[in-house]
Amino acid sequence: MDLFEKCYNYKEGSALYDAKIAEEQGLYPFFLPFEETEGTEVVYKGRRIIMLGSNNYLGLTHHPKVKEAAKKAIDEYGTSATGSRFMNGTLKIHRELEDALSEFLHKEAVLVFSTGYQTNLGTISALLSPKDYAVMDKEDHASIVDGWNLSHAKFVRFEHNNMESLEKALSKIPDDAGKLIIVDGVYSMAGDIAPLPQIVELKKKYGARLMVDDAHSIGVLGENGRGTANYFRLEADTDLIMGTFSKSFASLGGFIAGDKDVINYIKHYARPFIFSASMTPASAAAALAALKVMQEEPERIEHLWSIANRMRKGLKELGFDIGNSNTPVIPVYIRDKWKTVMIWKELLDLGVYVNPVFPPAVQPNDSLLRTSYIATHTEEQIDRALSIFEKAGKKLGII
Ligand SMILES: Cc1ncc(COP(=O)(O)O)c(C=O)c1O
Repeated sequence: MDLFEKCYNYKEGSALYDAKIAEEQGLYPFFLPFEETEGTEVVYKGRRIIMLGSNNYLGLTHHPKVKEAAKKAIDEYGTSATGSRFMNGTLKIHRELEDALSEFLHKEAVLVFSTGYQTNLGTISALLSPKDYAVMDKEDHASIVDGWNLSHAKFVRFEHNNMESLEKALSKIPDDAGKLIIVDGVYSMAGDIAPLPQIVELKKKYGARLMVDDAHSIGVLGENGRGTANYFRLEADTDLIMGTFSKSFASLGGFIAGDKDVINYIKHYARPFIFSASMTPASAAAALAALKVMQEEPERIEHLWSIANRMRKGLKELGFDIGNSNTPVIPVYIRDKWKTVMIWKELLDLGVYVNPVFPPAVQPNDSLLRTSYIATHTEEQIDRALSIFEKAGKKLGII
């Protein structure tokens, strides 16, 4: 049997088979190379398109202070730290970023990783051993599931944001096993918020620890964008706060925040942290500058919410199914794979980019268009996007 056979001949119904058909029909929706971007609009094949698919929530990728900090870091440190944080790869700027985050999040210590994905992989696999349990929401991000997989721990999954299901799952775990409840603060596809007050109650009742992935919540929820735990005033009860720099921070990397001793443990046992080179100096400096802007310009968060609320209201009024979203991540559920591709293409042709999402990234009947908003979107762009949604939705019989 040739191992590579599957790469050349795809079975009907497989993801690659679908991709090939889509490509033949000019409907392949992935890896589009944009020629230019200023954040809210991109240029694709010479046309300007409204970007409704970015995680640049605060619009900081082109902020003068953030760009300047990245350039200055290159001048000071060069382009790479060329090594693991453990060895030669720790720079003063990494420590400055960790200290600033620790103060911002009201946590004793912070450890920065090279990506958000590695942060989940490293934290979860370091803390859980084969006798422990990962307790995960069914809509948790893939990096959480992969972190559990790397840990060889046992697991239970509960229905999305369903506290009865969480309690049922916790009640089945033996008392003497270590338990880590892991949830997204804001769910990356559904755009809803984890009910932390109830989760914290259950965590206490069953003696578990709690980790919140705040990739989509920092810069979005809470005072100055401090995230989900701050939003619910539950910072002390949230044992670990995870975040990425690839979204509101307009950079690349990730972090875990918690008690000093726990962070120190992760630092010495997280293989994706130890066996990988550290964040580039420019990425660390951009994230640090973004953190400062987040606190200096709170009006950005206000505008982000007003833009997202305008779009949410508009999409609902047009008759689109947007589920339970109550954040700047707004899914438009189409629920049929090919219809999702068709409307995605129609929107693109009319001047709006969104991200189409299919199973297994979502549940089998939940194919959707993921839309997300930026503090620098204008009301004119939002109204233009809504009228394009209306045209595309009516043409395809979705509304
Ligand atoms: C909820 C969540 N966690 C973790 C990650 C991983 O972060 P990064 O892309 O920065 O590696 C992402 C990004 O896709 C995410 O949405």
